[in-house]
Amino acid sequence: MCGIVGYAGSRDALPLLVGGLENLEYRGYDSAGVALVEDDLTLVKRSGQVEELAAAVPDASDATVGIGHTRWSTHGEPTDENAHPHTDCTGRVAVVHNGIIENYDELKRDLREKGHTFASDTDTEVVPHLVEDELAAGKTPKDAFVDVVARLHGSFALAMVVDDGDEIYLARQDSPICVGHGDGETFVGSDVTAFLEHAREVTYLENGDIAVVTPDGVTIEHDGEVVERGVEEIEWEADAAEKGGYDHYMLKEIHEQPRALRQALSGRVDELAGDVDLDVDLPTEYLDSLEEIQIVACGTSYHAGLYAAQLLERYADVRVSVHVASEYEFGGGRDPWRTLAVAVTQSGETAETLSALREAARAGARTLAVTNTVGSTVTRDADETLYIRAGPEIGVAATKTFVSQVATLALLAVHVGRRRDTIPAADARDVLDAIRGLPGAVQQILDTDSQIREVAREYADSSAFFFIGRKLGHPVALEGALKLKEISYDHAEGFPAGELKHGPLALVTDDTPIIAVLTRGANPDATLNSVKEAESRGAPVIGLSSAGRGDKYADAALSVPDLGVMEPLLANVHMQLLAYHIANAKGRAIDKPRNLAKSVTVE
Ligand code: F6R
Repeated sequence: MCGIVGYAGSRDALPLLVGGLENLEYRGYDSAGVALVEDDLTLVKRSGQVEELAAAVPDASDATVGIGHTRWSTHGEPTDENAHPHTDCTGRVAVVHNGIIENYDELKRDLREKGHTFASDTDTEVVPHLVEDELAAGKTPKDAFVDVVARLHGSFALAMVVDDGDEIYLARQDSPICVGHGDGETFVGSDVTAFLEHAREVTYLENGDIAVVTPDGVTIEHDGEVVERGVEEIEWEADAAEKGGYDHYMLKEIHEQPRALRQALSGRVDELAGDVDLDVDLPTEYLDSLEEIQIVACGTSYHAGLYAAQLLERYADVRVSVHVASEYEFGGGRDPWRTLAVAVTQSGETAETLSALREAARAGARTLAVTNTVGSTVTRDADETLYIRAGPEIGVAATKTFVSQVATLALLAVHVGRRRDTIPAADARDVLDAIRGLPGAVQQILDTDSQIREVAREYADSSAFFFIGRKLGHPVALEGALKLKEISYDHAEGFPAGELKHGPLALVTDDTPIIAVLTRGANPDATLNSVKEAESRGAPVIGLSSAGRGDKYADAALSVPDLGVMEPLLANVHMQLLAYHIANAKGRAIDKPRNLAKSVTVE
């Protein structure tokens, strides 16, 4: 939701902080700010995007230590006053914060009674004021910070600087924060994208940790004792947070899908044995005793879960239910340990998905996280983690993480099926062949981008868009509609094709294109009936078909390579490009759609 950066070293901190905020802007873009430790504390903050902040900061400063923040508002409007960093009455302390401080109201009341005045409506602002009082009582900045953090309830990541030191103080409680190790300089980020191009080693803080960051490194304490948290290599490439010549991150990430898929599959497929090695501890005896898999997820990840559920039921012969995480209630019967709860979340930080997984764990279910983000909260909460290895995704609209989620979950379906002995090796080989064909087949679709752009131009001004599909085509239709509405702001809906005639057909006119999944795995013959129903009401049809199915009914036919159960996923790549080009034709803020943030850490 919000992004935190920090720098302590010997270089000019300002451009490093602003660069880090640009990398993190996908986490929030309604206001941004920095605090620089010079002779005094310099604060620059404003509503608007990071580029507006960049235009407002001085060209250079003497500061070699500072913190910064990019915000997606939860408490208080996106105004200059509510932008972070926040400071105290003396202007000596600056604090940035992700998350929510639940008891801020009562803390604010106490502070007001002591004479403090506040400049913003945020929960965060209580923190520098509390620290101010502790400093006035003679405590060191670190002791002041420790004592203040102990008084806070809620979920938070905090970074603080004080005017006369070269330290940054950090605290983590249910909201991620990490430290990047450079040579004689240390970086802080709410995730590693904040400093990807400057540091290749990272330390992740754990819940309850307090850290003191200096140019020489970081000292971490937990319950007053110094602890070692280990240093990990960052696998994401240094230029991964750059646009690499594309107009938008989203387009770059759509084009990165072949590579993302190769990474997701790398070292995991044993062709000869028709098996999969996923390096997760799910013993065969446990998988044999499984009664149900419950998938919890939101948005695009929920659609990936719907796709995976069909594969898991088919290959692993196990009951699978898929739950929008915000609606989840554990229903695991008398033997909760025979339920595997799977959280699908690219960020690993979605609050509702984390809550759902915790509920399942409390009830006694085993838990598995399927995520893109090393060190994210879900990896700490879940018993096991399966990485989708898509690389960083900066565009708010999920694209490469969606295909990587589906591919990874398809591997999981084969993995579970082989251990439960519900899919013979020969059949597994066929499925794995299709999965392994994904990178090449996605590339074939990307190579037809100019054709998709033409189709997008022709229909961009339509009054609404309806996406239909059956079986594996259904989650893809839902995802296609979500992507289009999210970045173009057009009315778009996805339906199981058969449902069209049970209501939505009333909306169909000659100005509402029907985008139909007509591939294998999506029951194309039955979907053609729905296509004809729409067509006879004058609706233009965009057919996404393999083997030329339905081309004669389609006003625009986009071809999908033959790839068995993975064909509907390929159809989704057409939909991504369609959404992109429609939004681009309308000049939308594709990477930062209005009102949305990439990582939604509040319920
Ligand atoms: C849409 C999109 C969102 C996310 C949802 C869950 O393009 O990205 O719908 O899928 O907010 O996010 P994660 O996967 O991080 O849990």
